[in-house]
Amino acid sequence: MTEGSGAASAPLLAIEASGLGRAMREWLWLYPSVEIVHIVGIGLLFGSIAVLDLRLLGVSRGIPVKTLARHVLPWTAASFLLIVPSGLMMFTAHASDFISSPVFVVKMCLIMAAGLNAALFHAVTLPSVEVWDSEEMRKLPPPPSVRLAGALSLAIWIAVIACGRLLAYF
Ligand code: HEM
Repeated sequence: MTEGSGAASAPLLAIEASGLGRAMREWLWLYPSVEIVHIVGIGLLFGSIAVLDLRLLGVSRGIPVKTLARHVLPWTAASFLLIVPSGLMMFTAHASDFISSPVFVVKMCLIMAAGLNAALFHAVTLPSVEVWDSEEMRKLPPPPSVRLAGALSLAIWIAVIACGRLLAYF
């Protein structure tokens, strides 16, 4: 993380000066431990969402999308219980530096884009799953809108992971 770019706002400085922010900077094992929780959560998030995204792209068409989604999406949801608190904890350590990092801003925008893509898929494409994922239709590749949702999800989550890693450098 780069140091002290620009004037930091009072709320961000207050976050850094909080007990949690100080502990995250000063306790030797705290930041790395929290980062490990973040990474375990990322593994669970990407591991669960990637198998569904690949299915949407047409891989393993023997498994109905609905069955697979019901199996993996609870794990995707659970991953946020590890990722979000740990991300926020790391944020408190250097809040003003993170906010002034373009990589951090891009990362947060990408997370919102991934959420929007998932919400659109659930609202627009998934209600007709019985039609486009019927036993007969599964002999063909999924429709373009389904493949697009899967491809976008994979690409966005890979970009989020890349931004997370790049935070240490920019
Ligand atoms: C939701 C999906 C998310 C993914 C896939 C993700 C990914 C990553 C990755 C790969 C790292 C680098 C870990 C390392 O280099 O050891 C990271 C670090 C970090 N993430 Fe996330 N993250 C996510 C959500 C969040 C959220 C919601 C926040 C909250 C503000 C956050 C804040 C941070 C911070 C502050 C770091 C530390 C950077 C550093 O110390 O260099 N992340 N993230």
